[in-house]
Amino acid sequence: TTTNFSLQFNNKVSNEIKIEPKDWMPDDYRKTLIRQISQHAHSELVGMLPEANWISRAPTLKRKAILLAKVQDEAGHGLYLYSAAETLNITREEMYDQLHSGAAKYSSIFNYPTLTWADVGAIGWLVDGAAIMNQVPLCRSSYGPYARGMVRICKEESFHQRQGFEVLLTLSKGNDYQKAMCQDAINRWWWPSLMMFGPPDDQSPNTLKSMEWKIKRFTNDELRQKFVNVCVEQVKVLGMTLPDKDLKWNEDKKGYDFGTINWDEFYQVLKGNGPCNTERLETRKKAWEDGKWIRDAATAYQQKVS
Ligand code: ACO
Repeated sequence: TTTNFSLQFNNKVSNEIKIEPKDWMPDDYRKTLIRQISQHAHSELVGMLPEANWISRAPTLKRKAILLAKVQDEAGHGLYLYSAAETLNITREEMYDQLHSGAAKYSSIFNYPTLTWADVGAIGWLVDGAAIMNQVPLCRSSYGPYARGMVRICKEESFHQRQGFEVLLTLSKGNDYQKAMCQDAINRWWWPSLMMFGPPDDQSPNTLKSMEWKIKRFTNDELRQKFVNVCVEQVKVLGMTLPDKDLKWNEDKKGYDFGTINWDEFYQVLKGNGPCNTERLETRKKAWEDGKWIRDAATAYQQKVS
């Protein structure tokens, strides 16, 4: 009976036994996973766009090769995640439809523009750094295929984070113009990076249930706080500053207090009103339409050989 299945499910979750695709699971657990994993996959795909903007303009051949590899990694992450979501009984076409129609979200961060080469560094350091902070605990997520996929993704993300930091470190040792470019990129990406962790816990409709199901292991605010603590130290190595005059060590919580996040901006970006929302979605849709001939050709070939 459903009650028995439900008991087994709860037992597995509380005993840290992974839930696998063929196991019984509550409908809402399945729905939440499809929502989170597919939005995560969409974020990886859309996330390629801001950085791809600099592939043809990277300052050296070496930087270009690294950036190309990095952007390709993001495509790979998207594919692992779509595969993980497919095990929950949704097709890739349905997920693409949801992205293209605007029904599914993707991370707010990718709706900001990459104005200078330093943005590639800031994305690596801050955006991928925030992604790692959020994603390392997902390696222990209760759903097996998601957790296993995240292990490899996190390894690659740490390389991305280091390459970003190294881009900024190089700029920080450059001439005055390069230093200013470095600081400007940090200033523009800092606050949107903090928004990546999602709304404050008391305004996050999904956190409570996701924590109970052990899909999420930390709340949005907990991860945001850890990220701030790490960045305050790392920015010192760069000899740069974070654009927040309220950053202050708080001995009681053993972490840094920080200024107020502009949640109005966050919700505007989610609604589609960020600086690049329209451009990002149009680019994705065009890539999908332009790829139709190859999908048709592959299908025709498959029919011929089978
Ligand atoms: N950008 C866009 N949407 C967001 C963001 C964000 N930064 N933060 C929260 N949201 C959305 C949620 O998806 C949810 O929308 P929905 O209910 O319509 O799906 C809504 O805002 C409310 O937020 P929460 O209740 O806090 O949602 P949730 O518990 O899913 O937590 C979080 C949000 C932390 C992003 C979680 O989904 C998560 O950990 N996802 C996996 C990681 C991920 O997607 N990373 C993408 C960026 S990093 C990268 O890929 C390189």
